[in-house]
Amino acid sequence: MGKLVWVVVSICVLMVFALALGLGLGLGLQSDEPDVDQDYFLSVRDEERIDCYPDDEGKSIEACEGRGCFWKEPVEDLAPECFHPPTHGYDLVSIPEDTELGWSASLELRERPERYQRDVINLKLDVEMQTTNRMRFKFSDADNDRFEVPIPVASSSSKASNPAYNVQYGTDPTFGLKITRTSTGTVVFDSRLPGFTFDDQFLQISTRFPTANIYGFGEHIHERYRHDLNWKTWGIFSRDTLPLEDRNLYGHHPFYLCVEKDGNAHGLFLLNSNAMDVTLLPGQILTYRVIGGVLDFYLFMGPSPENVVQQYLELIGRPVMPPYWALGFHLSKWDYGNLTVMRDVVESMRANDMPHDVQYADIDYMDEQRSFTVDPINYVGLGEFIDDVHAHGQRFIIILDHTIAKMETYEPYTRGHELDVFIKYNSDTNEELIGRMWPPGDNVFPDYMHESGINWWTEQCHQFHNTSLDFDALWVDMNEPSNMIDGSVNGCGEDRWNRPPYLPKLYKVFSGTLYEETLCMDSDHHGSTHYNVHSLYGHSHAKATHRALEKIFPDKRSFVLTRSNFPSTSRYAGHWLGDNKSQWVHMRWSVIGMIEFGLFGFPFIGADICGFIDDTTEEMCQRWMQLGAFYPFARNHNARDAIPQHPTVFSETMTNVSRDILLHRYTLIPFLYTLFYEANTQGSTVVRSLMHEFPSNVEALHVEEQFLWGPSLLITPVMKEADVTVRGYFPDVRWYSYYSGEELPEYERGTWVTLSAPLDFIPVHVRGGYILPTQEPANTTVYSRRNPLGLIVALNDEQRAAGNLYWDDGESRDPVDNGAYSLLEFTVNQRRLSMSVIRDSYVPPDNLAFSLIKVFGLDSAPSSIEVDSVTLSADSYTFDADLKVLIIEDQTLAMLEDHIISWNN
Ligand code: GLC
Repeated sequence: MGKLVWVVVSICVLMVFALALGLGLGLGLQSDEPDVDQDYFLSVRDEERIDCYPDDEGKSIEACEGRGCFWKEPVEDLAPECFHPPTHGYDLVSIPEDTELGWSASLELRERPERYQRDVINLKLDVEMQTTNRMRFKFSDADNDRFEVPIPVASSSSKASNPAYNVQYGTDPTFGLKITRTSTGTVVFDSRLPGFTFDDQFLQISTRFPTANIYGFGEHIHERYRHDLNWKTWGIFSRDTLPLEDRNLYGHHPFYLCVEKDGNAHGLFLLNSNAMDVTLLPGQILTYRVIGGVLDFYLFMGPSPENVVQQYLELIGRPVMPPYWALGFHLSKWDYGNLTVMRDVVESMRANDMPHDVQYADIDYMDEQRSFTVDPINYVGLGEFIDDVHAHGQRFIIILDHTIAKMETYEPYTRGHELDVFIKYNSDTNEELIGRMWPPGDNVFPDYMHESGINWWTEQCHQFHNTSLDFDALWVDMNEPSNMIDGSVNGCGEDRWNRPPYLPKLYKVFSGTLYEETLCMDSDHHGSTHYNVHSLYGHSHAKATHRALEKIFPDKRSFVLTRSNFPSTSRYAGHWLGDNKSQWVHMRWSVIGMIEFGLFGFPFIGADICGFIDDTTEEMCQRWMQLGAFYPFARNHNARDAIPQHPTVFSETMTNVSRDILLHRYTLIPFLYTLFYEANTQGSTVVRSLMHEFPSNVEALHVEEQFLWGPSLLITPVMKEADVTVRGYFPDVRWYSYYSGEELPEYERGTWVTLSAPLDFIPVHVRGGYILPTQEPANTTVYSRRNPLGLIVALNDEQRAAGNLYWDDGESRDPVDNGAYSLLEFTVNQRRLSMSVIRDSYVPPDNLAFSLIKVFGLDSAPSSIEVDSVTLSADSYTFDADLKVLIIEDQTLAMLEDHIISWNN
């Protein structure tokens, strides 16, 4: 049927329907406000319809009407036929009451046909004006306790006196909250939309947002950084599956950031760990459908995107400070086969002078893939090899999986069983749930949320470190939690947890089982049902591992790498983007994934360089080494059956290009480490998108193939086969080549520029106005940390710049809390570079000094230069008049002393 016919048919249906409504017959509608419903039915635009039948099965006109919803064929293809009338929602019972932090209101369900089972009739809404820029609004069951996420979040002791938001509510036709930005009047949250539902296992709320600039939600592969609002639905629930389009992946992040019309930004976090999906409507509406818990929202008013993330992390906790060495290059492969091959790879890296700080052992080092064992044949001598790695200033990380083989002869199991740490099949039995994982046979699943589980894990890790392998950090995997069978070896019971009435749009579960390749949803975690805490499993595993490492290294910082994650996991761990493929498109996705994890507060992030699954090509791997050199977490990791891809296995050219770009990374680690200090202390992002820095620039809002380190280092990678140029967007400020200091011509500012990028080159630019600390590189950070420091000073249009440097011993625990660090500030103003020591509580042992100062973008040649009031001889600096670059070399400017460098015309 053509569209026009549909329109005519729809209009006829609509008239009959409207008539029925007018007569109060209502085609199953129970509404007591026919006019409101009728008006809405006639006027609602397709792109604003709130779906009343997102279920996949059983949709029909009758079923729709049975829910008291409207049925009308949409003109727009993807809009739902079955949608909520405006009277579906809750009513305000009485005038809200003031509370210490805001107000609270009682709401009552407006009568309507039951949608699933067990509607919650009485709701309580708590509005808390927690800080100037953060407010909380929480809808919960007024009569019964419900599951709430057991992670600590910040609160507030007094109501914000001058909030950046203004909270109002509407009651017509049902209750809705409307929150505006005080300074501009922009509506940032508006739930005055149909279909607000609070059923025991189905909670739905919709909000209208002010622009189409929505970013975030995870963990997914998003092909676009800025969301596609064309009825896109994203499932959120931790899951082990290949990172491909549309799938819900390892982490669970109900957080988005929205850039408003004027460049202000706000963010919204739903603190809820239950399975959910979110649908983005073309009418700039978002619908959450959650199958448990409460609707506990936090709104952050920014106003800059960076402020939004900082406010989010102020709530949930800021990321851990990684040890300095963790910012070096990491190398890994699943199944080197044996220690000889692993050793050969490490030696080949050394023989080729390749920067390499960290070597990994994947599950093949284990005996039959059982955690806390070592393969006695293929990895005999692993302990001595780790000693050799340490002797070269390198580190060693081992993997541990989440499950434990159920064997009476295996101490981790017998001890865990004795301490009762394993998850039970359900709350009625005392039987451990049995599933399948890498270790052959039965596997059990430790409960990392419970104190006894955490203690047992700590004990196992500690013991293994002391008696077997002297590892430096731990990589914990498969903790979504993954199971190689559905639920358990005994299947799962037919109950409301395993078969919830509504199944969010999650990858693979359309068959109706939420427990596919994971645990039964009714399995029991010492009182918590897996259904509620599933997405917290990896978080708890990471946290328990962090605790174990604190015990193993009481004075030293180590780190945890985890696959599954939840908001605030970054307080304990970094994350990699999972089992990507050696395909060009996966490189592209990794950039979007990385900047999204910046929004989620995970600065220690990267993808497997050169791709995990399948064989890479030399060209792809070379390009990926260039890109990966700028991942905060830079690890080349490779799957079992894929050809070797460490950077020395290819041609000499590839080896040289990889070495060269890694040396640039090592040159910049002081800058990167300083960004991590800011993340750790202020919740700043390390990697960020151009949108983040230039939210008022409409072009920057959709750039997704470039990224920044902090505010100032712009990376424009080549991510297409055979390309030797790359297009990048350069907002209208000064940009200089990081390598040469050559300035991007003025006419290219604020435009898309095609950059030359031959195979041995990745374009990297420094933004005018910033100063980046550097250090002469070496092959490990142990050695690079002893080398002379430098500065790259990139002047802005006013000939000014600023930057800083954070420094500590690189590995002692809690340096900021213990005050064991130094901080330097650099500023250029009026032809004077001031290097000022703000804090000098950590004194480096190696007489660290600044040697090389590069100044980009001088407006004219300096006639003379003074360093600490001494005029420099002409042979200690060069000025390139074409590039306008000044280079001052061979200085010895003690790190912990103030210095002034000035230049005259
Ligand atoms: C999972 C991990 C991968 C690891 C493999 C074997 O697939 O994501 O990184 O190599 O398991 O342990």
